[in-house]
Amino acid sequence: MANPTLLILAGDGIGPEVMAQVTRVIDWFGAKRDLAFDVENDLVGGAAYDAHGTPLHDDTMARALEVDAVLLGAVGGPKYDDLDFSVKPERGLLRLRKEMDLFSNLRPAQCFDALADFSSLKKDVVAGLDIMIVRELTSGVYFGEPRGIFEEGNERVGINTQRYTESEIDRVARSAFELAKRRGNKVCSMEKANVMESGILWREVVQRVHDADYPEVELSHMYADNGAMQLVRAPKQFDVILTDNLFGDILSDCAAMLTGSLGMLPSASLGAPNAEGRPKALYEPVHGSAPDIAGQGKANPIACMLSFAMALRYSFDQGDEATRLEAAVEKVLADGARTADLMGPDDGAPISTTEMGDAILAALD
Ligand code: NAI
Ligand code: MG
Repeated sequence: MANPTLLILAGDGIGPEVMAQVTRVIDWFGAKRDLAFDVENDLVGGAAYDAHGTPLHDDTMARALEVDAVLLGAVGGPKYDDLDFSVKPERGLLRLRKEMDLFSNLRPAQCFDALADFSSLKKDVVAGLDIMIVRELTSGVYFGEPRGIFEEGNERVGINTQRYTESEIDRVARSAFELAKRRGNKVCSMEKANVMESGILWREVVQRVHDADYPEVELSHMYADNGAMQLVRAPKQFDVILTDNLFGDILSDCAAMLTGSLGMLPSASLGAPNAEGRPKALYEPVHGSAPDIAGQGKANPIACMLSFAMALRYSFDQGDEATRLEAAVEKVLADGARTADLMGPDDGAPISTTEMGDAILAALD
């Protein structure tokens, strides 16, 4: 059988630095686990703009639609801040998400024991935490019409519209239930059905999908504001949280910070499954291009590595190998390996990006 294909778009700033370490890990799986990928490298963001005058070349877009998964580093940086909106680095990423129709954004919040002290919450509230937020990514108030700033009488009015169709809710609900079956078998859906009609429809459709096709998954509904409170009060009550684009934006950032540094946080964005049941997929760390530390060997490569672990699990059905990589990360952290973002000012000398890569490869061996 042909090797699965992986398109790597390292991007800007620390993107190429962290991706270099992930590439070593990918090679390790090829050499030691008989799990070889056909890897292609291409440009996105400012790097693509510098080469082609566009943040995403059409040929790159076409390949992204063909490969089994895309792994992205980060885009953007001060060098590109004054570019026209249409060619800003972020536009490359937005185009990928849009044309791949990646409607389901998976953001895990997982607390590694060794970092539990690092959380802003009490250790026993977060130790062992492992939840997944599924955020609808391609619709809702960020896209709904009408939108704009309009004249009304003698003042202006700013308008955005929260809009969800039944089919949009249906497909993201399915992706949450499918995920729950592979995890703790529990979904909590969050909206504001008490004050928003779109929330009433959301709740109805999620319940309908559940009753028809996923009755074995435990489903509950919660108002999103209460959800925010519960997330910081007792986050371990959750397994999968399903929510819309706006609430998901906020709740996933909130959940992320329960567990420590941006340098640790992976994500996946999934689209419709193809004939083999493999979804269109883009994996990327949550962090950006970190211009303040770019080029200094300080970046933590773990977020990007854990994004590759998600690719192993969700695109390539290699859950055991994903767990192997996650366990290696857990081990090096338990052994005390720390990049600068995982340390306080008085905690001694941090290790470099490459040294963190060395440690994780050694742990894999
Ligand atoms: P950022 O995530 O790049 O950095 C925020 C802070 O976290 C910085 O102090 C940075 O040094 C630190 N940090 C981030 N990742 C780290 C890592 N792996 N290891 C250690 N420290 C890390 O967000 P910021 O500063 O708001 O944006 C910088 C640039 O990145 C901007 O151009 C922004 O547009 C872009 N950006 C791109 C994203 C993407 O590609 N998906 C997401 C967020 C921002
Ligand atoms: Mg956000």
